[in-house]
Amino acid sequence: MNETRIFGFGGSLRKDSFNWALLEAAVKLTPTNARLEVFSRNDLEQVPLFNQDMEHNPPDVVRIFKNMAKKSDSILISTPEYNFSFPGLLKNLIDWASRPDEDNVFNGKPVAIMSASTGIFGGIRAQFQLRQTLLALNMHPLNRPIVAIGNAATKIDENGCIRDEKTKKRIEELLKALIEWTKRLKANG
Ligand SMILES: Cc1cc2nc3c(=O)[nH]c(=O)nc-3n(C[C@H](O)[C@H](O)[C@H](O)COP(=O)(O)O)c2cc1C
Repeated sequence: MNETRIFGFGGSLRKDSFNWALLEAAVKLTPTNARLEVFSRNDLEQVPLFNQDMEHNPPDVVRIFKNMAKKSDSILISTPEYNFSFPGLLKNLIDWASRPDEDNVFNGKPVAIMSASTGIFGGIRAQFQLRQTLLALNMHPLNRPIVAIGNAATKIDENGCIRDEKTKKRIEELLKALIEWTKRLKANG
């Protein structure tokens, strides 16, 4: 495997989302042996609530999401923390992607998580809850490094640029570890 194809998406619809800022930074920090493609925020806004009656014939925007996930070798999720958990819109997206059972596009994929929060814990509780759901999809979450960016408003400016070198370094380390993890899992079949 030469180039690792990573598919990324965020769990916020907020215009100045810190979590999308992490993803945008990740695109720039992706090493040359990988490519990070990010689901569009505009498309994310169009994703309807999951309805199992439609799982065999999902809306176009869900098809786009599922195809992007299918084409990728691994997944990168950037999630806010809402009330000690990850946001409902992210759960909704994951539910669409996981159905029908035989077309769970996340099945067997390596996955890395990042989070940013205005609180001091950086969204770590959301990450733990998200991990639990990812296990149900038979994904392979990366354990380290943990990228949970607390006090995000002091590290990311009003243009969505990361002004904190440590944060950038953490993202870089996460990407490298995800690429390595993806290669290891592929090599072991
Ligand atoms: C409904 C709601 C619940 C929240 N709950 C938490 C929380 O449990 N822990 C936390 O650290 N921040 C919490 N926050 C603050 C978020 O960390 C903050 O709004 C952050 O900017 C959201 O991510 P975003 O910038 O990517 O949209 C909450 C925000 C909202 C809107």
